[in-house]
Amino acid sequence: VALGGGVVGDLAGFAAASYKRGVPWVAAPTTLLAMADSSLGGKTGIDLRQGKNLVGAFHAPRLVLSDPNTLDTLPEEELRAGLAEVVKAGIIGDPALFNKCSEGWAAVQSDWDEVVRRAMAVKIQVIEADPFEHGRRAALNLGHTVGHAVELAANFAMKHGQAVAIGMVVEAHLAERVGLAEKGLAEEIAGVLRGLGLPTEVPAGLDKRAILEGMQVDKKRAGGKVRFALPVRVGEVRVGVEVEHLSELEEVW
Ligand SMILES: NC(=O)c1ccc[n+]([C@@H]2O[C@H](COP(=O)([O-])OP(=O)(O)OC[C@H]3O[C@@H](n4cnc5c(N)ncnc54)[C@H](O)[C@@H]3O)[C@@H](O)[C@H]2O)c1
Ligand SMILES: [Zn+2]
Repeated sequence: VALGGGVVGDLAGFAAASYKRGVPWVAAPTTLLAMADSSLGGKTGIDLRQGKNLVGAFHAPRLVLSDPNTLDTLPEEELRAGLAEVVKAGIIGDPALFNKCSEGWAAVQSDWDEVVRRAMAVKIQVIEADPFEHGRRAALNLGHTVGHAVELAANFAMKHGQAVAIGMVVEAHLAERVGLAEKGLAEEIAGVLRGLGLPTEVPAGLDKRAILEGMQVDKKRAGGKVRFALPVRVGEVRVGVEVEHLSELEEVW
């Protein structure tokens, strides 16, 4: 039984996947990030110095038991970081959830049950349609192609959710630039994230070259190009978008 946040879930799930080539396990997530995202979908694993999630297995828990009451003791910074994945869920498939997030910190804080339930519903719908990431599931990588590279460049000193928040805004700007997203979408997403106390720009101290290099080793890289999941509008994400020249990013951050 993995009782804890995403770190406990990833580690216990990976141990369960490996021990005797796989034993059943139960996820009991106690952070917002783990409830809304990491406990669902069966991805387990650990990071290596060379990059995120380089060792792991698909091994779904038999049961996911989320009790939002456990969030009462979770530090505010962790709650805010978890909200990045909630906003992501809204952009992928639940405009009403995105609107709820746009009401700001006080509004979401007063109704964790609803926020957790809606975010879980989006993820469950996506993973049931495409459990092994042959297509649609890649939508869940929204904000993560840039976000993971930001985390790596920051030596993992930044919270995952904060890096994903920055990643979603940078990727939305990129989506506008390549003509995929409606104009103003990036600013709309940034406004919602700011209202939840999340960062929306690459911190001045981070080396942008290092972030671009980090994206080159991203495991989603295929055929010499980095594939993005990019937002079209709130409620619609396009997967497998190839961006020929990553230097495009330098125009948007
Ligand atoms: N497997 C996946 O699909 C997936 C998806 C997203 C993220 N992740 C991984 O999840 C990890 C991040 O997870 P996280 O944000 O839950 O961080 P975490 O597991 O480190 O938990 C954050 C902190 O909160 C504490 N904590 C947990 N529950 C608490 C509670 N109810 N009250 C008080 N304190 C509590 C923990 O001890 C820890 O200090 C990253 O390693 C990320 O790579 C995995
Ligand atoms: Zn994530």
